[in-house]
Amino acid sequence: MKSVLVTGGSGRLARYVIDYLLERDYRVTGFDCVAPSGADYPKGVQFVKGDLTTLEDCMRAISLSEADAIIHLAAIPYDTDLHPGQPRIQNLPEDECMKVNTMGTYYLMDAARRFKHVRTVAFASSYYALGLGRRLSGTPFQVDYLPIDEEHPNRPEDTYALSKVFGEEILRAYSRAYGIRAVAFRLQGIDWPFRKDDYKYGITLAAKPDHIGGPVITTYQYVDPRDAAQAFTLAIEAENLDMFEAFHLLTDSRHVEDTREVVGKVWPDLVGMATHLEGTEGLITAHKLRTKLGYKPQYSWRNQPNHQ
Ligand SMILES: NC(=O)c1ccc[n+]([C@@H]2O[C@H](COP(=O)([O-])OP(=O)(O)OC[C@H]3O[C@@H](n4cnc5c(N)ncnc54)[C@H](O)[C@@H]3O)[C@@H](O)[C@H]2O)c1
Repeated sequence: MKSVLVTGGSGRLARYVIDYLLERDYRVTGFDCVAPSGADYPKGVQFVKGDLTTLEDCMRAISLSEADAIIHLAAIPYDTDLHPGQPRIQNLPEDECMKVNTMGTYYLMDAARRFKHVRTVAFASSYYALGLGRRLSGTPFQVDYLPIDEEHPNRPEDTYALSKVFGEEILRAYSRAYGIRAVAFRLQGIDWPFRKDDYKYGITLAAKPDHIGGPVITTYQYVDPRDAAQAFTLAIEAENLDMFEAFHLLTDSRHVEDTREVVGKVWPDLVGMATHLEGTEGLITAHKLRTKLGYKPQYSWRNQPNHQ
């Protein structure tokens, strides 16, 4: 039986990943600085409480788990910087996102390389790595070509996006140096089944003739956490990957119209790049994930029976 360590093991996505792994008979250890609620944590899962930003705790978690693979989800899942003109209620120190996400990934990888049994690390990056999340400069997001794939330049501005780019580079360096296979998933925004009433599907977007440049915050795409769990599991099982690979990870777009039509209405500057687009997948493509990893998303709103 294969053993998997899931960092961020008390978090929202982790719960779906852990359930998916258990259904496939993996031995699972969760690792998080916050203990999960014992009442509804899956039986048979070992949990290690510790801080990702210390080498000792990362080593303890890896050692206790005897992991063949690590699924690295622990993070501050948003930027924590303060900026004049973009007011927010501060709940964490400004450097927390950078510290946890970047140094945490470094300590995890530096711990992993000390244990010969860790063969693969799969990491939750984000489509925000592209730089379309918080536009601190106030300038439009630049799209070089469509659809956006894994080769498109990342131009992060905020610390969350930057921490994900650094996280990917840390994985890449450790795979190069120590032969640990590493996979980074650039997840779309996750639509949680327990908040399904908050999300809109089957939308017809209003025209925005004055919009300049590419999308900001949303591309009107999403990933279901159960599909994300499938992708992470495929990554730790794959035999055909390069030592480091990045994949965009999404389930579907939310719009009914073809992407080409949506671009013409919502991002008119990009219309010349969209002429060859077919179908409704959206601005970012998961083509590489489908063709190289055999990913088959199950939770599109378009096949209603599964979309609960
Ligand atoms: N939620 C989304 O829409 C989304 C989109 C793209 C990418 N992601 C990425 O997916 C991953 C999981 O996201 P989520 O929504 O489940 O987040 P979450 O906040 O629910 O889970 C993250 C977990 O990390 C833990 N953690 C934070 N700091 C830690 C530390 N120092 N040591 C140990 N554990 C620590 C937290 O306690 C939490 O349980 C994150 O890496 C996030 O950046 C999420």
